[in-house]
Amino acid sequence: SQAKVFITRRLPVELEQLRSHAWVEVWTERQPPPYEVLLEKVKEIDGLLCLLTDRIDRQLIELGTFKVISQMAVGYDNIDIAAATARQIPVGNTPGVLTDATADFAWALLMAAARRVVEADRFTRASLWQTWEPDLLLGPNVTGATLGIVGFGRIGQAVARRAKGFEMKILYTSKHRCNPELEQSLGIEFATLEYLLQESDFVTLHTPFAEDTNHLFSDRQFQLMKPSAILINTARGSVINPDSLYRALSSGQIAAAAVDVTEPEPIPTDSSLLTLDNLIITPHIGSASRQTRSKMAAIAIANLIAGLTGDRLPYCVNPEVYQ
Ligand code: GLV
Ligand code: GLV
Repeated sequence: SQAKVFITRRLPVELEQLRSHAWVEVWTERQPPPYEVLLEKVKEIDGLLCLLTDRIDRQLIELGTFKVISQMAVGYDNIDIAAATARQIPVGNTPGVLTDATADFAWALLMAAARRVVEADRFTRASLWQTWEPDLLLGPNVTGATLGIVGFGRIGQAVARRAKGFEMKILYTSKHRCNPELEQSLGIEFATLEYLLQESDFVTLHTPFAEDTNHLFSDRQFQLMKPSAILINTARGSVINPDSLYRALSSGQIAAAAVDVTEPEPIPTDSSLLTLDNLIITPHIGSASRQTRSKMAAIAIANLIAGLTGDRLPYCVNPEVYQ
């Protein structure tokens, strides 16, 4: 009988090729399928294509009949990878194609926070622009400042390449130190998180979310930062403790922040963070260029088809399943 797949949202890609391999059901609502719906679906499918808004936990994986999980995202902290691996189910993701789009967006947030672009727009629309003023909406220089990059994978490195063009001093911290040639060509210096926090004018987060990065930024880390520092988060919301972020921004412990990700998502409408003028919040759109989203969808489909036909996924996060 024909294979069945479930796709948890409409995707910016043609499904014709997939339809030649499987009967395809697409969840067409704007909100993600409720967990109970997923629980029913996984009992009757051979492949699942999901997004980071779907919680694919152990229970769901153990009840599932699928032989592939293909996620349209680079991050996969919403999926219980250990549970999938234990059942020999390959999990796909979409790395690479979103590196530059996400680094561009981190850079947009950095520039916007430094030069107060969002505040300035609000100022103008409130009819407060009455004359040119020497001290209106001042911010720090970006060019020549010190940038601290926390997490130095593909996206962190792409941010470093941008920073080089801004003649910044670049510190990075990471589980793995880069080789000396790469350090030299990018003009980067390896640092402990503590040193990086003390020295940086801008700190930008590019770690995955995992146990060891959960609330990596809490009161203690903000205390180490300069009062003039600006924090950028395009990684995962839970890398920052939101209560600590509120305290740091409202007390002037750091100058400003710009986050594309929050804990939880979406940010609750009554969050105290929404009252802060020195915080920019965008709705998790780091990879949202048209070209990138199409490529992410195409890779997710390719991973799904490979899983259905028993081929190795082009991008697999748990290659142990092939051993
Ligand atoms: C987006 O956050 C992704 O992980 O691709
Ligand atoms: C804000 O809620 C954050 O955790 O980034």
